Amino acid sequence: RAMAILREFEESCGAPVGKLKQVAEAMIVEMHAGLASEGGSKLKMLISYVDNLPTGDEKGLFYALDLGGTNFRVLRVQLGGNDGRVVNQEFIEVSIPPHLMVGTSDALFDYIAAELAKFVATESQGFHLSPGRQRELGFTFSFPVKQLSITSGTLMKWTKGFSINGAVIPVGQDVVAELTKAMERQGLDMRVAALVNDTIGTLAGGRYFSNDVIAAVILGTGTNAAYVERAHAIPKWHGLLPKSGEMVINMEWGNFRSSHLPVTEYDNALDVESLNPGEQIFEKIISGMYLGDIVRRVLCRMAEEAAFFGDTVPPKLKVPFILRTPDMSAMHHDTSSDLRVVGNKLKDILGISNTSLKTRKVVVELCNIVATRGARLAAAGIFGILKKLGRDTVREEEKQRTVIAMDGGLYEHYTEFSKCLESTLQELLEKEVSESIVIEHSNDGSGIGASLLAASHSQYLEVEE
Ligand code: BG6
Ligand code: GLC
Repeated sequence: RAMAILREFEESCGAPVGKLKQVAEAMIVEMHAGLASEGGSKLKMLISYVDNLPTGDEKGLFYALDLGGTNFRVLRVQLGGNDGRVVNQEFIEVSIPPHLMVGTSDALFDYIAAELAKFVATESQGFHLSPGRQRELGFTFSFPVKQLSITSGTLMKWTKGFSINGAVIPVGQDVVAELTKAMERQGLDMRVAALVNDTIGTLAGGRYFSNDVIAAVILGTGTNAAYVERAHAIPKWHGLLPKSGEMVINMEWGNFRSSHLPVTEYDNALDVESLNPGEQIFEKIISGMYLGDIVRRVLCRMAEEAAFFGDTVPPKLKVPFILRTPDMSAMHHDTSSDLRVVGNKLKDILGISNTSLKTRKVVVELCNIVATRGARLAAAGIFGILKKLGRDTVREEEKQRTVIAMDGGLYEHYTEFSKCLESTLQELLEKEVSESIVIEHSNDGSGIGASLLAASHSQYLEVEE
């Protein structure tokens, strides 16, 4: 009976190439709709106001603050321009105390500004701020933001685990203004020179090191993608045509949904019980915040209906999010002959001891089904972007390389996931192009990217020229 539940789940998770191509097509349709008009699609296709990516000329001392992933980071880089590039860099990484993720926005921003102030106070020798200048910051804020300019934008909604219900509800408020006020309260003299999504930061960081980077994807707590679009292909953009003719678009692909997605009853239940029901459906079947919980839900059903773990249902199996994706990943990668890691995880996390090898094998198989579906769908999304840009085929005369900059804990640490993502992309691509399209891990590229964008939007730029 337990195996029947597993097989049924496996079947509904199926993502053969044909289906993935339908998903990619549906993604392209939504991309067009989102670019055509505000609210035209589930895909917001947000205009980033980044119409120039880093060139290598950026110079000076800049800061970056990265909020919205597992940890928040503060970074300083000394940029040396074309000869020196990144001369020096230093960062700190802090996990956000959970109570601040659900508290008031003032409390959260005060905490962040205080960490930033502490970091600034420790500026060591390798960093040099030109005299008389204000420090400038690139602010990576990894949530959907409606940008009003490169330095301002309002929060559209919270995603992932954040839901901040302060006295002042900041949905609709300018996040740069919130941060700036908090920095003032901390006595920190710093200007936000660029507000960007993590995908945009990763794209900018990737482009700095390689000219062939045309898109960035985050696979972490949440998932999202950004890419370089022709300004002409954005009907909803009524501003001046950028000199470059290009505009970077933050897709917010986590909110994509389509009847072609292999969604199961477990996903529906997860969605209904989530902090944001009906939203971020693509994200909920792909990203790190949710994969472990999908596994837990299937195990719970197997325990309840097929006594998979014996006569009683282990009570911890009922606790939402108790099984985290890193633990799922550890079980999935267990290579020991007796699946010791699986046994220990089941015992330590779910309180289930003395599991048989057979049971453990089933658990690994389940992890594989969930990870494979997520990875294959993420590959379909990337294929959709490539196809939208006409990069899925190459004309003989221009064998250009295409690089996708990738970041996020899921991609970085869950090897089976990233391997499957890469092989699926190869399956989707024609042979002739498969070698010229590469995914590159851009480690903390978004921090560097944000500071580069702060540099290219510095208030001192004109003075220098
Ligand atoms: C980091 C990037 O490496 O990955 C962040 O610098 C990004 O900007 C993060 O938000 C996403 O991954 P995770 O796993 O921390 O959610
Ligand atoms: C969520 C956010 C998005 C972010 C992604 C990855 O989907 O809405 O803005 O880029 O997570 O961190």
